[in-house]
Amino acid sequence: MKLLITGGAGFIGSAVVRQAVAKGHQVVNLDALTYAANLENLAPIAGSNLYAFEQADIRDRAALDRIFAQHQPDAVMHLAAESHVDRSIDGPAAFIETNVTGTFNLLECARAYWTTKGKPAAFRFHHISTDEVFGTLGSEGQFDETTPYAPNSPYSASKAASDHLVRAWGETYGLPVLISNCSNNYGPYHFPEKLIPVVILNALQGKPIPIYGQGLNIRDWLYVEDHADALLTVVTQGKPGRTYAIGGENEVTNLDLVHRLCALMDELHPETAPHARLITHVTDRPGHDARYAINPARMRNELGWRPSVTLDQGLRATVAWYLANRDWWQPLLVRQGVGQRLGTKG
Ligand SMILES: NC(=O)c1ccc[n+]([C@@H]2O[C@H](COP(=O)([O-])OP(=O)(O)OC[C@H]3O[C@@H](n4cnc5c(N)ncnc54)[C@H](O)[C@@H]3O)[C@@H](O)[C@H]2O)c1
Repeated sequence: MKLLITGGAGFIGSAVVRQAVAKGHQVVNLDALTYAANLENLAPIAGSNLYAFEQADIRDRAALDRIFAQHQPDAVMHLAAESHVDRSIDGPAAFIETNVTGTFNLLECARAYWTTKGKPAAFRFHHISTDEVFGTLGSEGQFDETTPYAPNSPYSASKAASDHLVRAWGETYGLPVLISNCSNNYGPYHFPEKLIPVVILNALQGKPIPIYGQGLNIRDWLYVEDHADALLTVVTQGKPGRTYAIGGENEVTNLDLVHRLCALMDELHPETAPHARLITHVTDRPGHDARYAINPARMRNELGWRPSVTLDQGLRATVAWYLANRDWWQPLLVRQGVGQRLGTKG
């Protein structure tokens, strides 16, 4: 299959690109290379003749038209987005421009391309979204494909808007669309502004480990390689018009997560132990959702997918990867906003 993957130089997109090439798919990676991108994530496959890179912005319709015409993809996997909730609180405009207008451009470009080709039934437009579009849960229940949308942050509102556009392009124009909504990802190549890499790198450097509020917010963590496997399963086997909720079946509070990471750091990097002494409670994020949890029954029952690693296995692999790959993360620490508290302007 020839896959056009947007956002392939980011955290999840690069995992999808690496896995797709390893499985023998041809991949065109379309990425604008924002602050969150890193072409080093693609070093393992950059030399493959199955791989091509196009630096382009999804807000640039002419560039998209040229790339579709040149590469003639069988499917689009759309991951390009502004993705950091804290940045969306300080500067929501970029989230509307990329996540909403950019997705609109990509849909219109894909529709024109698909129409020119005679509307092939096998074409797929797979939109990768988040469980944050569903808002927050209380102590009971889980999100699934029937949960009403109730986004609470500028990030999740922009992703919700893009989900609605994708659904409408399927219903109105018959474009064969798929949507997946996933829980929080973690793993190697995670940009060092997100919680898990911040904890590992601050522990390593003896810096305070920030916990927002009480740290009792619950997230359902999924190892990024398992998410990439789920996404390739959806794009190759999913039914057009359908939505898939993808989760890790790994619910923990942020405080519990940070303590597990500190214990792993104590074991794998005893030189700087004990690490839990660095935990510092800071002002909570405005609009911070209390709990996310996914019921992944449709993925399991219809597509035979389930996560391959437990949270403890995934966290151990992640800590070990950051300890072994200083050359990857060190240069990213000087990028704009990294290491600073963002998102307090709500
Ligand atoms: N990280 C998570 O836990 C998570 C969970 C569920 C869903 N998602 C979704 O998965 C997707 C990927 O998330 P991620 O964590 O890998 O994000 P990321 O921020 O690591 O990567 C985003 C990539 O998109 C590119 N990009 C941004 N704006 C662009 C534009 N205008 N044109 C072209 N490229 C652009 C960036 O350069 C970057 O390479 C996003 O759509 C996100 O909403 C993320």
